[in-house]
Amino acid sequence: TLLPLLAAIAGYLIGSLSFAVIISRAMGLSDPRSYGSGNPGATNVLRSGNKRAAILTLVFDALKGYVPVLLVLVFGPRFGLGEGTAALVGLAAFLGHLWPVFFRFEGGKGVATAAGVILALNPLLGLATLATWLIIAYFSRYSSLAAIVAAAFAPFYEMLIWGPGPIVGVLVLMGLLLVWRHAGNIRKLLKGTESKIGQKAAAGA
Ligand code: G3P
Repeated sequence: TLLPLLAAIAGYLIGSLSFAVIISRAMGLSDPRSYGSGNPGATNVLRSGNKRAAILTLVFDALKGYVPVLLVLVFGPRFGLGEGTAALVGLAAFLGHLWPVFFRFEGGKGVATAAGVILALNPLLGLATLATWLIIAYFSRYSSLAAIVAAAFAPFYEMLIWGPGPIVGVLVLMGLLLVWRHAGNIRKLLKGTESKIGQKAAAGA
């Protein structure tokens, strides 16, 4: 059946809604791709100084991962769709965020969307991954470092506590892409020039 493919396409289209750009536009703020890291994500929107816009970006970018996965988990079984399709749809939403069809395929790094996907696929795993992010972010003040560490731990948590399955596969793929997307952040972390959470950065920095 074509159903899993159609669900994945829908997930990709929803993931393509770059809320950092959409919300900034709606609130009359400058385009997040024009300042700070240039990344369309909540961390960079926070560098504009507008906390409300940053929180809205975080919530909506997470929801676009959470809602499609939840819909498949709730309504999928009636159509023979299981956890594997839910994981695939989550991956598709994540890919949409990284390569959004509506924004010339220039997307973000996928942190909030991955969090939403993980929370829907396995809420306890989501909480463990969020806790990992919070601990690293609290002590280091680096959003990027917290995301990289949390993304690296998530597949191990899933594998060790819940065992192998499609969720592990999707966590590994999302983790690899997320870390790869943070290559610039990793360089800055090593040089000591990465900006800390809430620290305003000059354009192009
Ligand atoms: O949400 C992405 C975050 O981990 C890094 O964002 O803007 O500092 O590159 P940014």
